[in-house]
Amino acid sequence: MKEIAKLDDIKKGGFIYFDHHDEKALLIRTAKDELYAYFATCPHEGKTIMWDNLINRILCECHMALFNLEDGSIYRKAKGMVIEKGLRPIEVTVDKTGTVFARD
Ligand code: FES
Repeated sequence: MKEIAKLDDIKKGGFIYFDHHDEKALLIRTAKDELYAYFATCPHEGKTIMWDNLINRILCECHMALFNLEDGSIYRKAKGMVIEKGLRPIEVTVDKTGTVFARD
């Protein structure tokens, strides 16, 4: 388990990036105070994804692919896009002090 953030440092509806196994990763804190984490590399052409709280989806702005929050699956492909795999999830937990950990 690796410490990645303090819950207080992420506002509800927000997200942060962190490093996990030498890759950029995304930690999302939803408006309902749930946490989700994924490797931040888009499975299309490898650009960095982000959280869009307004549409409640994970977004890659490069070709506007959208991914589902709950499991990282593909919600919408951009036209002509060839991707079959969704995002790679990272398991996270929070301890009593509000410290967020990622499982190795
Ligand atoms: S690189 Fe992400 S949609 Fe194309």
